[in-house]
Amino acid sequence: MPKKGSKNEIVESNLKNKNDGSKFLELFEKSVISSEYLEEDQLIIEDQYEMAYEGIMDAYNAGLYAGLIGPVGVGKTALCRKIAQDLKRGFYWVTFSDLVRPSTLIGSFDPTLVFKVGYSPKSFVPGPFTLACLEGAVFLANEFNRGDEYVLNSLLDALEEKRLYIPQLRTWIKVHEDFFFISAMNPVELKGTRSLPQAIKDRIKVWCRLTYPSRKTEEKIVLSKCPEQELDRNALDLILDLVQRCRSYQKIEKPPSIRSSIGMAKMLISRMHRENITKPTNDLIAQVASLILPEAIDVLPGLNPVEVVRELCVEVLGFG
Ligand SMILES: Nc1ncnc2c1ncn2[C@@H]1O[C@H](COP(=O)(O)OP(=O)(O)OP(=O)(O)O)[C@@H](O)[C@H]1O
Ligand SMILES: [Mg+2]
Repeated sequence: MPKKGSKNEIVESNLKNKNDGSKFLELFEKSVISSEYLEEDQLIIEDQYEMAYEGIMDAYNAGLYAGLIGPVGVGKTALCRKIAQDLKRGFYWVTFSDLVRPSTLIGSFDPTLVFKVGYSPKSFVPGPFTLACLEGAVFLANEFNRGDEYVLNSLLDALEEKRLYIPQLRTWIKVHEDFFFISAMNPVELKGTRSLPQAIKDRIKVWCRLTYPSRKTEEKIVLSKCPEQELDRNALDLILDLVQRCRSYQKIEKPPSIRSSIGMAKMLISRMHRENITKPTNDLIAQVASLILPEAIDVLPGLNPVEVVRELCVEVLGFG
């Protein structure tokens, strides 16, 4: 009998799970979430977030569709989820890429059901866009400008005429009057993005922009993600100094996002726990930065991100 927690016991337990599949079923059933379930995320709604929030809410009340533009990790998706929560509507979203096809959005036939009942609405599995149109829910087109033009155009009639064609059923359906469409995307100059087709752009009337938050707001955001009593204020200041410096540093093309500030704060707390330290040193912060920042930034061609981060750590923290 292997000792509890020993390597042998872990291997044995993995084998058992593989063989009967019951562990998977148990975890699966415990973990299923409805597509409309939204985890409560306490957002900081001030400054630019307040302006964007109000812009999108006003668009909703005016019956207009909205778009949110901003660089990676500034809170576009988080804000859209908050809006769906506050509107108390169902929420569906799709993250666009070349792999998203019209059927991903609109739906497709289930071959087994087709075999039983033939081609009919009974064998049709609606996609998230169709469901949002029928239920009057919020549909978030995440990373909208990474989608293929042909796919984007399949949404045109629903956005303008308030009717959606389901080609598989050769049927038009009426779009619910509460249906709301929000798109979120990176600015066009970012890799992998395209300009939106003019016809689509013309149907999204209200455009809100987000950028990196002010230092004061970013501080609140990081504090909202980390237990305040565990995060040394001086260390948080230094993390934010470093991130802000990255955002103004000429050698950096794509600066770190809020996710990096949050990541560094969490990582610092974890290291302090493991090393039983109550007061973080600048050296420790530099260690954490060297684990997170090099992969979070893009530097000018020919430069090494590890070196660039080291330079900045020496400048801001006195350690590299
Ligand atoms: N106003 C805010 N209040 C609290 N947390 C925020 C706020 N804005 C952003 N965040 C946090 O920052 C992180 C990045 O946000 P989010 O994923 O929404 O960014 P994004 O702009 O959609 O990024 P991407 O371009 O990669 O899709 C998340 O952990 C989010 O919870
Ligand atoms: Mg996002």
